Amino acid sequence: MDVLWYLTGPDGRYPWREDGARPLDYAYFQQVARAVDHLGFTGALLATGAHDAWVLGASLISYTERFQFLVAVHPPLVSPTLLAKMTATIDQFSRGRVRLNIVNGDTKLLAGYGVHLDHDERYHYTDEYLTVFKRLMSGETVDFVGKYLDIRGGAIPLPPVQRPWPPLWFGGSSAAALDVAAKHIDTYLTWGETPPAAKEKISQLRERASEHGREDLKFGVRLYIVVRDTEEEAWRAAQDLYDHMDDATIARTQAGTSGTDSVGQQRMSALHGGRKPADLRELEIYPNLWSGIGLVRNGPGTAIVGNPEQVVARIHDYQEAGVDTFIVSGMPLLEEAYRVGELVLPHLPVSRGAMPGESTGVRATWNSWTEGWKK
Ligand SMILES: Cc1cc2nc3c(=O)[nH]c(=O)nc-3n(C[C@H](O)[C@H](O)[C@H](O)COP(=O)(O)O)c2cc1C
Repeated sequence: MDVLWYLTGPDGRYPWREDGARPLDYAYFQQVARAVDHLGFTGALLATGAHDAWVLGASLISYTERFQFLVAVHPPLVSPTLLAKMTATIDQFSRGRVRLNIVNGDTKLLAGYGVHLDHDERYHYTDEYLTVFKRLMSGETVDFVGKYLDIRGGAIPLPPVQRPWPPLWFGGSSAAALDVAAKHIDTYLTWGETPPAAKEKISQLRERASEHGREDLKFGVRLYIVVRDTEEEAWRAAQDLYDHMDDATIARTQAGTSGTDSVGQQRMSALHGGRKPADLRELEIYPNLWSGIGLVRNGPGTAIVGNPEQVVARIHDYQEAGVDTFIVSGMPLLEEAYRVGELVLPHLPVSRGAMPGESTGVRATWNSWTEGWKK
């Protein structure tokens, strides 16, 4: 099973508030990246955010040994030839540790970058884009004239380590998104819907993918985790987050997402309806699955809240629905990486990249560190 952490700001105890967000600098990202590597997560998602995901990923290669960088890409912002070259370079330098997360983004946000394609057009663009990208990564010299792209003699001189190309991941819930995913994508991601809703989406996508002769899609879910030794403590921790969600921030967040053309966002918003009930458990939409975080952030808004056994049980529910990849996080990223890494990861068969001959470290206790390691 792949379990990834998250490596994107804002961060802090309450990242939606000025007094709860911590300053993010390069040294801090290095710490989080090293924690992710040390704890044994499969990788981390570098989403679009305040920092450029590619620069961030490239800058962290030398601070990490094993974890996989899942780097967000907005196709219309970079020529497919340049993206292919960037991918091959980072794949070479990291020895095969990069994956791409192809995202459609938001119409308003992309307009700020000079891209004026509407929601569905961006998916049609992505279809052409990935067609060209794959050919370039395979070493072809590409001539391609489509509705959006006109590439003449496109080529990259450097092969990637991962052949024919590093895995392509993707998040998008609209009909246009499912078409592109079915045709091109290796791992399909959804935000934290309930396991039955995820199951429904997965079966739709499997059906469409098999129309393209593709049977080997993987599925992932992006969730927060609020885990503590006991269930009561976990809900107290969620209550603390909830107590810091002020009405003004909720109103601002909900105004920002209302009227969005992102179907994924609409599905997330429906899980809390934009209202903050007095009892946070009214937002428990499935056992231990709490939609409260969506009140103060767009995108992923649900958390598994519970003790380690409950968190693992909910992860198994998703597995039964067909999910094999989990992108999880907590607030703050550094401290909660350790909490999830120590309370949850040991109970899951997490896959990590192989590094033969690496240093394994030692798990010594106050009473054992003078004993021999051969037991
Ligand atoms: C796990 C996951 C991660 C995502 N990461 C990003 C991201 O980094 N940047 C971004 O602009 N959108 C991101 N998205 C949103 C996608 O861009 C999505 O395609 C968008 O909401 C519109 O899609 P839809 O209307 O097809 O659902 C992500 C979605 C998922 C499920």
